[in-house]
Formats: sequence, structure tokens, C-alpha cells
Amino acid sequence: MEQLVQQIEAYKQEIDLFDAKTPEEVEEFRIKYLGTKGLVKAVMGEMKNVPNEQKKAFGQILNEFKLFTESKYETLKENHQPQADHQQQIDWSLPGDPIAAGTRHPLSIVRNQIVSIFKRLGFAVAEGPEIEDDWHNFGAMNLPEDHPARDMQDTFYISQNPAWLLRTHTSSVQARVMESQKPPIRVICPGRVYRNETISARAHCFFHQVEGLYIDDNVSFADLKQTLYFFVQEMFGKNVKVRFRPSYFPFTEPSAEMDISCLICGGDGCNICKHTGWVEILGSGMVHPKVLDNFGIDSNKYTGFAFGMGVERITQLKFQVNDLRLYSQNDVRFLKQFTGVI
Ligand code: PHE
Repeated sequence: MEQLVQQIEAYKQEIDLFDAKTPEEVEEFRIKYLGTKGLVKAVMGEMKNVPNEQKKAFGQILNEFKLFTESKYETLKENHQPQADHQQQIDWSLPGDPIAAGTRHPLSIVRNQIVSIFKRLGFAVAEGPEIEDDWHNFGAMNLPEDHPARDMQDTFYISQNPAWLLRTHTSSVQARVMESQKPPIRVICPGRVYRNETISARAHCFFHQVEGLYIDDNVSFADLKQTLYFFVQEMFGKNVKVRFRPSYFPFTEPSAEMDISCLICGGDGCNICKHTGWVEILGSGMVHPKVLDNFGIDSNKYTGFAFGMGVERITQLKFQVNDLRLYSQNDVRFLKQFTGVI
């Protein structure tokens, strides 16, 4: 027994000095000392060789040896917790991964600007469906079925039901407003429109418009000009000049297209203005009496003006975007150039 006790003391010293550098070494310790074939078990097996009168004292020594080894094992384990190890490896001073913030689409930026300028003049926003019937898109707008001006807007018809089409302009929304409201009417209609065009840098099968409608007593062409002049100055700055050219739209009489002095060359002549110094930005005119009558608005009492512009064109002039296809290709290299523009 004396010898056994000495042996246990020697093991204790060995255990005390044991140091594990890795979790694997902690496991080796467990197997060597506390495993089923480990040292503690082996020493306990000696109990049967100890004389009966010494068994009690030896039992205490064994028990104490076992607790000693187990507590050493717990300490080793704590020092090698996987989490603790992981935390030691993180360098908290490293910069984080950047989170790319989304940006507003240039067409949305410009549409919002247009809308906010007209809102300041008291225009309300009106919206309507993109799938329309012939009446709201054409008929009510003074384009009966055989009207040649229908060709001005190549139309997509819905094959299951040719009475339906994709609206070719947001004048269809103006029709819906006149149908449901009485003058005074003062609305702008932003939205997507569709035309059956071959896609190229200068044309697309869909684009975006903002159209406007103002109906009240005594609305004149002077009001139309002043409203649009205000818009241009707010949108492009005080130095931009405007001019009106006579034009034709079935739903307005008289009709005019409005040009602004070219922002790119300042009027000297360049590719964008085709060397004329002017760029067309919208169509406009006094609402045709027939259109008012179509909605039971007395054309002897009320007059109105209307206008319509393409958001893509305004955006092209504001941001010098020269290929219409860029707007719908979702190329982040294009889109992220508008970061920070609201
Ligand atoms: N609806 C016309 C177009 O899409 C634009 C326009 C609107 C012209 C109102 C005059 C008056 O081309």
C-alpha cells in the first residue's frame, strides 16, 4: 500500500504539470487518465489487493485522486472552449464588409422632380390602368376608329381580346379623370406607356410620360405657356429659353410642341439638338371641345389645356443619357452613378 500511495502522488504531480495546447491534447488527457482504460480506473482496480483494515483509508486517497484528476480535466477544457478560441482569432479592428445601398432609378428621380414642380402649382397626381380599352385611349380623345392619327402611336393589342390594348399615352388617365370629376380639374398623370417600336438607342417599346390637364373657366393659351415656362425654369434653370411650334394632336386645338434651348451646347448646335440649338420636350394644346363634350363638360363654359412629355427625354437632357436601352438593362454600373441624387 505504501508503494501504491507513492505511485499516486507521482501521478498527481504529472497531472498537475500537464498542459494542453490544443483541444486534441485535452481529449488525449481525458483518455489517458479518465477513460475506461485510463489510469484512474487502473489505480482503483488496486483496491482488491489492499488489506481490509486499510481499505477505508485507501478509498479516501483514491477518491481524492479521482476528484483531483477530474478537476484538472475541467480546467483544461475551459481553457480550450471552441468559442474562446474563435474570439481570440477575430481582429476587431478590421473594417467591416460594405453593404451596398440601393439607388433610385434615374427615371424615378426625374419623374419625382416633374411631379413636385407641378404639385407646387396645385396639380394633383392621377393614375390609371396600363391595360386600357379603346375608348379611354383613343375614342374619347377624338381618335375615332378610322382616324389616321392612330398610326402616330403604333399600338399593342391584347390578343385574347382586341378591345383591350396597352395604353399608348397617359391621356387615357385624363379621360378617366374627366369621366369622374367636374371642373375645375388640375391633374398630372405620370405612368408607363407602350408603343410597338423596334428597340434601338432612340426608341423603345415602352417609356414613361407625365401628362397634364387643366380645365376651368377662362383657361387660355397664355396660361398654358406660362405654366410650361415655369416648369422649364424650375427643371432646367433660369437661363433656358423656350419656343412653341404649331403642331397637330387630335385631342387639342390649337396644338403646339415646345422646344427648349439645347442644354448640351447652349444653343450653338451639337449632335443632341441636331445642330439646330433647340430640343423638343413636349406636346401641348387647348383641349379640343369635342373631348370636353365626350365627358359632359360644357365646352361653351369651360376651356382647358393639356400637355404630355416623355420622362426619358427629360432625363436624357438632365443627365446626358444617350441610349434609351440603358434605362431598362439594370446594369449597376449605370444605375449607381445616380447615388445620392434624390
Ligand atoms: N398624348 C400625346 C402623346 O402621347 C402628348 C400630348 C398630350 C399632346 C396632351 C398634347 C396634349 O404624344
